[in-house]
Amino acid sequence: MSLAETLILAVESSCDETAVAVVAGGRRVLGQAIASQVALHAPTGGVVPEVAARAHLRWIVPALDEALAAAGIGFGRLDAVAVTAGPGLAGSLLVGIAFAKGLAWVHGLPLVGVNHLEGHLYAAWLDPGEGGERGPQPVFPVVALVVSGGHTFLVAMRDHLEYRLLGETVDDAAGEAFDKAGRLLGLPYPGGPAIALAAEASSGPAVTLPRAWLGDSFDFSFSGLKTALLRLVEAELAALARPPAEEGGVLPDERVAVLAAGFQASVVDVLAAKTLRAARETGARTVVLGGGVAANEALRARLATGAVEAGIGLVIPPPALCTDNAAMIGAAGHRRFLAGERAGLDLDARPSWPLVRPEGAPAGRRPPRRGAAARAYEAARAAEAGEAATRSAGSI
Ligand code: KG4
Ligand code: ZN
Repeated sequence: MSLAETLILAVESSCDETAVAVVAGGRRVLGQAIASQVALHAPTGGVVPEVAARAHLRWIVPALDEALAAAGIGFGRLDAVAVTAGPGLAGSLLVGIAFAKGLAWVHGLPLVGVNHLEGHLYAAWLDPGEGGERGPQPVFPVVALVVSGGHTFLVAMRDHLEYRLLGETVDDAAGEAFDKAGRLLGLPYPGGPAIALAAEASSGPAVTLPRAWLGDSFDFSFSGLKTALLRLVEAELAALARPPAEEGGVLPDERVAVLAAGFQASVVDVLAAKTLRAARETGARTVVLGGGVAANEALRARLATGAVEAGIGLVIPPPALCTDNAAMIGAAGHRRFLAGERAGLDLDARPSWPLVRPEGAPAGRRPPRRGAAARAYEAARAAEAGEAATRSAGSI
């Protein structure tokens, strides 16, 4: 085995996609399968954890069969099994972890636990095409923006697996903001792609919604924007004598399109401006974008223009590798494998696993001030306290 051509079987089940992939050298996707649960969660407008976990249980074996068949290889050729160990929904993570452990144990393969957010970042190191097409590789130093349904943060990387947190959301994640705005506008789940599609049809005078710049900081905030959109939608619904959004009131399509465009422009503006400024200030040679919101065409286009103007390289994975997939777990798993990391068969799910802690806070996160991030922080603290209690109970 040449280390550069390590063959990794990767498993991802942290949220609502059941995915398996075979990745060569952390770069070439030999085969992959993604069973999406979007249709399953659409009626509830969001992921119901137990429903998601049961669907992973149902689809994980067919996803493995499909990925191996597409790659045209058997277990004998594999070098390791990589699996998402967190962050994510505990029940969903446990399905993938138990499955990956079983495979590693039966086939005598090393196991590598991967952080889902590191996977989103390392999607930028994957070749974008299935036909062996080679993409540009990020050149260090890198500034990376990860924008997903649960996380939004900016990091600087001087080398592989080395992160310095520059900023993060103080309330909602960008994807979460898109999803909430989608619900408010009566659009289907998930809100991100639905808002992008609705915005394309926008004509007439644009609506300018607020942007939270938060001074010179690289932190983000989207809750004020969400409230501004809520106020506008409620006022326009009332003027049309329609019921409020939470009772099913929906604006005419043309207004939905204009408001979707205004919302998207506000999110894209702040994400792109802060990322490009971070790249300039840290002397980055490449900007990397990852996470589900990186599939957004307006954001991709805006960063493409800004990077050319600034003379900085830009690597954004194709949209299918921005949203949850297992190939990205194979890419990050490859790096961790090369670094000598191995998980034991006691690997556990880490639902609140941070990729990187703020500087000067090695033992804990800087508490977010308010909103979803503050609630998530409290939940993480409670979970960590629970984990510690379990560990000490186990060692008696
Ligand atoms: O990374 P991801 O697939 O799952 C998480 O790890 O959270 O991200 C899902 C998020 C959802 O909030 C979804 O609305 C958003 O990514 N998203 C988009 C687009 N496609 C997916 N947001 C904006 N524009 C898109 N085209
Ligand atoms: Zn994700």
